[in-house]
Formats: sequence, structure tokens, C-alpha cells
Amino acid sequence: MSLLTYPVNFIATPDGQLNVLQLSDLHIDELSQAAKPTADWSSLNCCQSFEKLLEQALNEPIRCDLIIVTGDLVSKICPDIYNYIFEVLKKTKLPFACIAGNHDVTAEEGCHLPFHQRTFLPKPADERLLSRHVIESEHWQLLLIDSAVPGKVAGKVTSSDIDWLSHQLTTCNKPALIALHHHVTPMNSDWIDEHIADNADKFWQKLHQFDNLRVIVSGHTHQEHVKHQNGVTVYTTPSTCYQFKPLEDDFTFDDNARPGYRWLQLGNNGQVASWVKRMDT
Ligand SMILES: [Fe+2]
Ligand SMILES: [Fe+2]
Repeated sequence: MSLLTYPVNFIATPDGQLNVLQLSDLHIDELSQAAKPTADWSSLNCCQSFEKLLEQALNEPIRCDLIIVTGDLVSKICPDIYNYIFEVLKKTKLPFACIAGNHDVTAEEGCHLPFHQRTFLPKPADERLLSRHVIESEHWQLLLIDSAVPGKVAGKVTSSDIDWLSHQLTTCNKPALIALHHHVTPMNSDWIDEHIADNADKFWQKLHQFDNLRVIVSGHTHQEHVKHQNGVTVYTTPSTCYQFKPLEDDFTFDDNARPGYRWLQLGNNGQVASWVKRMDT
């Protein structure tokens, strides 16, 4: 399958099943040389880690039909870095779709200071990052929304986003996956849950009535998590670079957790299989 346009709107696959590769939280802040094949995972920077994981995923014995990148593509907002990321993704010749995370619309100043003393400046999102975008397959609809708020770490699902999602779920009865950057169910980690998508309660109140909503997938938490809520399976996914330690109430890196990605197999019968793979050692 070749990528004819960006963004893609419809994907046809030989067997109807849609295999989605989710990459999240690339956090690239500088461009660098490719890593040596023998490089240890802990020695890689975010740029090298992204390329190595993408190569690993696409060498797996699973057909990849679509790559979704769920935000925080960069840690430094710079057109050259976005150009590089889009070039790497284009070279796969696979359809792909990218949405914004907080780091794509917020410049953080004073990174050497404690978190609450830093300054957060709003920035416009790269125009290639998608918002309210639909990708359909024969049996599924993928609804991509932008939960990033310029100048803020926390996200938001706006009332108009909720209305848009409700409209899509009403007018198309195919099983649905929603992808966004911020998590919409608590992670039981105080500092991460400070940055949950605002309006998550309204989101659930409105959307739990739709039987065709099957899956929600997000990034932002830099860790693997799954929860079942209101008949919906809710996943978060590791970063392709650095990880946060689960269930910690204060900011804590998880230095032993390897970078990773998620596969989502969206079956013809509306069933979903999903798993996380970590970087090979
Ligand atoms: Fe992130
Ligand atoms: Fe984030």
C-alpha cells in the first residue's frame, strides 16, 4: 500500500482487518546521527530511539496498515524537527496520521527549575497535526481529536469536540476508536492525573451511550495501561523515548522501562486485540 495523500481518509486492507501501529511521545529535541546497530537502548537519544523502534515494528511479522502518532512529537518546537519526523514516516510508504500533544503547542522555559516555577508559552501547532479527523476502513472508523491546549500541560476535550464525536458516532455505526494525546481515565498517579484531559467527566457522560465506541487510545502518560470503562477499552501507551513510573504521586522516571509502541488489531467483527512491544535489547 502506498501513501498517496496526507492525511489519509480511507484505508482498504486485503482481509478487512486494520492493523494500527501507535507511536507516542517521541519528544525529539534535536536531530542526530542514526544509532549504531549495537547501541544499547539506554544510550539512545529520542531521535535514535524513534527510528529504531519504527524499524523494529515494521520488521515484525505483522502487516502494518496505518501508523498513528499520538502527540508530543517534539520537545523543542522547530519546523526542521517536524520535517524530519514527517520524512521518516513518509519513507515507510504507509498511511500515517499525527495529532498534537501539549509539547507541540507549548514551549517550556526554565526546564532546570522545579516544575511549578517554569513558564509555559503558547505556540501554534504545526499545520500537519490533525484535529477532528476521520479515517475509515471497511469495518472501522478512527476519530482523531486534538486535546492539546496551547500554553498548558493539561489537555482538554472541548464541548465542541464532544459534540463532533457524538455526531460521528451517531451518523456512522461502524465500531469506533478515538485517538487523542491526553488520557481520559485516571492513572492513579497524582502528578500525571493533574494533566488529565479536562472535561473527561462530560466526555464519558455523553459518549457512554454509544455502543459502537469500542476503544480509546492515548499517549501522554509515558506508560502502558489498560482499563475497561462503560464498555470501552481505554489504553495508554509507552513513549518511544523515556518512561514515567506507574502509580507514583510525584514526578518519577522509570529508568528500567524500555521505549515501546502499541499494536491495535481492529477485527472485522468489531473485536480488538492490542499489545505493547518494547525495544529489543
Ligand atoms: Fe509526553
Ligand atoms: Fe504530553
